[in-house]
Amino acid sequence: MKKFAVVAAMATALLGSTAVHAADVEVIHWWTSGGEQAAVSVFAREFDALGEDKWVDTAIAGGENARAATLQRILGGDAPGAAQFNPGRQYEELISGGMLLDLTPLAEKEGWADFIRPASISEACLVDGHWWCVPVNIHSWNWAWASMPAFEKAGVELPTSFDDFLTKAPKLKEAGVIPFAIGGESWQINGAFGVIQTAMLGLADREKILKDKDLELAKSKMADVFTKFREFKQFSDEGSANRNWNDTTNLVVTDQAAMQIMGDWARGEFGVAGEVAGTDYACLALPVEHPTVSTGGDIFLFPKQSDPAVEEAQLKMASMMVNPQVQALFNNAKGSMPIRDDVDMSLADDCMKKGLEIIKDPANIAVDAGRWLSNDTTGQMNDLVAQFWADDSMTVDAAVEQYVNILQTAE
Ligand code: GAL
Repeated sequence: MKKFAVVAAMATALLGSTAVHAADVEVIHWWTSGGEQAAVSVFAREFDALGEDKWVDTAIAGGENARAATLQRILGGDAPGAAQFNPGRQYEELISGGMLLDLTPLAEKEGWADFIRPASISEACLVDGHWWCVPVNIHSWNWAWASMPAFEKAGVELPTSFDDFLTKAPKLKEAGVIPFAIGGESWQINGAFGVIQTAMLGLADREKILKDKDLELAKSKMADVFTKFREFKQFSDEGSANRNWNDTTNLVVTDQAAMQIMGDWARGEFGVAGEVAGTDYACLALPVEHPTVSTGGDIFLFPKQSDPAVEEAQLKMASMMVNPQVQALFNNAKGSMPIRDDVDMSLADDCMKKGLEIIKDPANIAVDAGRWLSNDTTGQMNDLVAQFWADDSMTVDAAVEQYVNILQTAE
C-alpha cells in the first residue's frame, strides 16, 4: 500500500465521515520556491487522498505578503479554510478575537501534547488550554549553507567561525566566487543579523535583550554585533538588492557563491537540485563553536467557517499534517525538522540528522524572536537592520540608538 494511502485509511477511520457534501479547503501559504512547492505538494496530495474534500492552493509569494492577505481576508469576512503563519505572535489577534476553529477536541483525541516536541513548539498553538493551530515543522535560522566546490576552488577549508570566514573571504573573492550570498529583502538581512547576534551574545544575553527588553544590556552589547555584521557587506555582491532568498540560495547551489546564512528551508532547494549534503554542499550549524537551533517553523490555523462540511474537512487537514508518515515526507522535502520524534527518519539526510541531534539538548534551543516580538516590532527591526546594511553612512551608534528605541517602545 502506498504511504499516503495508509494515511488516508487511518485518517478516515479515525475521524469517520459525517460530511453532507465534499468540501474545498482553500489554503493560503507563501511556499513558492522549488523546495517549498515540493513540500506543500505533499500536504495537498495527502489531503486529497483522504477522500472527496479538496486542497485548494492559494500561494502568495513572500511571508509578509501572504500573512497580510490572510489577515485582510479573515477580518474582511472572506476567510480561507486554512492559512500558514510562523509560530508566535503573528496571529494573536485572531486568537483573542475568537476567529479560529478550536482544534482542542481533535488534539486531545490524538494526544498532540504527548508527541509534539519540544514544548516551545506546542506553546505556539496551545494557548490558555486551547489548540488554535497545528505546528507542522521546526525551522531553524541558525545555519550557513556552503558550496564545497567554491571553497575548494579558493583553496580554503570550510569556516570554523564567522571570523574565520571573514579571514578566508578575500581568497574566495580572488577565486571569482561571491563569498557571502545574501538577498536584499529586509527579513533576510535581519535574519542573518539575528544569527550573528546569537553567535556573539549567546542565548542568555540574547533573551534578556529580545524578550526582557534589557535596554542597558542592548546598549552595551549591540554595537559589536552591528560592527561585525557590517564586515560581511564587502563580501556580498551587487546583485543582492531585492533578490529573493531562493535565488540567493541558488548561487550557492550552483557554486557561484561560497556561503549563505539562511534558515534550513534552504535545504529544500539543495534537495530539488539533487545536491548531496557533505559532498556538494555543507550545512554548518551555527555558531560553529557551539551549534544551536532556533524554534522557528510553520503552523497552520483554520478560520471559523459556517459550513459544517468545511469544518470537518479542516479537522481532517489538521490531523493529516501531524500524521507521522506525512511528517516524514513533508519535512524531508521542506528541509525542516518534524514536530514529533516518532517519525521514520530513514529518509533524513545528514543536515536534518545534525539538527535533530542538536535539538535534543534544551540548552541548544534558541527561542525564535517571533515568540517575543510583535509583528510591528519585528517589522521595525527588519527595516532598521536593512537600512544599516544598505546605507554605509549610517553609524553603528545611530543603529544601536534606534535599536534600543525599538525595544523601548515594543508592545
Ligand atoms: C519562513 C517559513 C519557511 C520558509 C521561509 C521562506 O518564514 O517558516 O517555511 O518557507 O519563510 O519562505
